Amino acid sequence: MKKLKTKEAKSTQEKTSIAESGSPYDILGCGPRLKRLTTWEPERWEKAKNPLAAGLPALSKEAMRFHTWQDRGVPSVAHAYYFAKDFARGNLSWGNFLVLAGPTGVGKTHLTLAIAWEWFDDDFSVVFTRVDDLLDDLRRGYDDNTYHQKLERIRRCSLLVLDDLGAEHAKEWAGEKIDRIVDWRYVDRLPLVVTTNARSEDLAPRVASRLKDRRCSIVAQIDADDYRTAATNAGPDRRQKRVA
Ligand SMILES: Nc1ncnc2c1ncn2[C@@H]1O[C@H](COP(=O)(O)OP(=O)(O)OP(=O)(O)O)[C@@H](O)[C@H]1O
Ligand SMILES: [Mg+2]
Repeated sequence: MKKLKTKEAKSTQEKTSIAESGSPYDILGCGPRLKRLTTWEPERWEKAKNPLAAGLPALSKEAMRFHTWQDRGVPSVAHAYYFAKDFARGNLSWGNFLVLAGPTGVGKTHLTLAIAWEWFDDDFSVVFTRVDDLLDDLRRGYDDNTYHQKLERIRRCSLLVLDDLGAEHAKEWAGEKIDRIVDWRYVDRLPLVVTTNARSEDLAPRVASRLKDRRCSIVAQIDADDYRTAATNAGPDRRQKRVA
């Protein structure tokens, strides 16, 4: 009985209230109308606050950030850092696509994770994923009926990061999915960050063309030694341990 009363009271209140409870537009007294015009969905953003759901590895929260980045005195590395930093701040005046290309171990994933964490911390919906993992996940979606939901999330998230493009086997199905996703982000001018080891001529032509579009994309070609194995990056502790 008590429950029923509360329910009734609530529904009467809902009918008469001008502003939607919990909406940031309450103070304007026009919440419900604005809500329909915006994407204000508290439940959705709460879910997006989970770093695992965003695909952000827990360890990278401390390790792969701008403040842990070392200037290596290599111009192409410095350029990539500069564009990444700008992107992380939300300055998309250069373009809404950022492509970090280069050989292994030059810090492409490090920079993209640093960008993704900044956007995540600013409460944007972020999806960070390796391309082959994404394709596996979409395939699984056929079995548990979540395929369309997964694809929609990739299509509409505020920031999409595709790590290691070109590492996947360019089978017909995979190629078509990547083409579609990149094209959606391209047409809607939505933020997309891509890393790749592949040369642009090795990527699918339609995907490469969009990623290289000078009107909306910055391509930072990094040319440096592998940070993982470069002798200059072995700290004194590490070297001593090796000698001992
Ligand atoms: N300039 C840098 N400052 C600090 N750490 C760096 C720098 N460059 C690379 N690293 C570190 O080196 C390791 C390799 O970097 P990362 O994984 O980003 O390379 P990558 O370019 O994505 O390589 P791959 O193509 O193999 O995926 C990471 O632990 C990263 O934090
Ligand atoms: Mg990488």
